[in-house]
Amino acid sequence: MDLELEGKTAIVTGASRGIGKAVARELALSGCDVVICARRPEDLELAARELSQETGRKVVGITADTTSTPDVERMIQEAANVLGRIDILVNNAAAPGGIARGPLASISDDDVLDDLNTKVVGYLRCARAVGPYMTDQGWGRIVNIGGLSARNANGANVSAGIRNAGLVNLTKYLSQQLGPSGVTVNLVHPGATRTERSGPMYEEQARQQGISVEEVEARVAANNATNRIVDASELAYVVAFLASPRSIAISGEVIAAGGGSGQAVYH
Ligand SMILES: NC(=O)c1ccc[n+]([C@@H]2O[C@H](COP(=O)([O-])OP(=O)(O)OC[C@H]3O[C@@H](n4cnc5c(N)ncnc54)[C@H](OP(=O)(O)O)[C@@H]3O)[C@@H](O)[C@H]2O)c1
Repeated sequence: MDLELEGKTAIVTGASRGIGKAVARELALSGCDVVICARRPEDLELAARELSQETGRKVVGITADTTSTPDVERMIQEAANVLGRIDILVNNAAAPGGIARGPLASISDDDVLDDLNTKVVGYLRCARAVGPYMTDQGWGRIVNIGGLSARNANGANVSAGIRNAGLVNLTKYLSQQLGPSGVTVNLVHPGATRTERSGPMYEEQARQQGISVEEVEARVAANNATNRIVDASELAYVVAFLASPRSIAISGEVIAAGGGSGQAVYH
């Protein structure tokens, strides 16, 4: 299927590495010019250079902290100047798992508020700033990256779940606000996804548990129905489809892309 992404333009937040970078790569390979954003300029520039060389598309890094409204508004304005128009926004910037974790007595309000500010309000800020570009042109796609902790409480990790559950409602709200102007908004929940961070993380877990890296990986893989760890590039296929004109039948929805993780059924 031709996703009809050739010539479209996209902004991907949190794309100097990990899932965001994989999504930016897939969109560029599909024919989009892309602005990627993150806080650290060195990593961002490296990623932009790598992706533009690899894909032959315009891939430009613009630094921004999505916890800051002025930063987001400047980044979106600069992106519009660089790209000429904004067709697609992929909201992804956040620390995976969040920073608020541990026993109840030790949970800090500031950590929880930081997590919500980055992932829930940060996504809202970016959507609000791109909204006028998309509604004026009568077309747009917003894809929010959540996490399967929205559905499965994750032990001591408090804000992972509450922020991802919050994104379900935010996504529906945005789809209703922007839908009449031709903009769809959807949410993709990754499960445990293989990124550049996975190798060192699994090595550390293997060391702590006194088992091999292969055993750690097998345990992670056993948590989903396909018994394999989803790669960031495979998650990016799902996002590219939702970012494309072909996904017009879907809006305000939640798509789990965790290889069939969890026991619950949703209807
Ligand atoms: N990997 C997984 O298994 C997994 C599972 C479920 C959900 N997720 C979700 O998927 C998304 C990406 O995760 P990942 O594993 O790819 O993370 P990652 O490798 O840590 O990458 C995070 C990216 O976001 C940027 N970033 C973080 N905070 C930011 C902010 N306030 N403003 C702008 N950029 C910011 C980082 O760059 P700077 O630090 O330079 O800003 C980096 O580019 C997150 O929303 C995460 O919760 C991931």
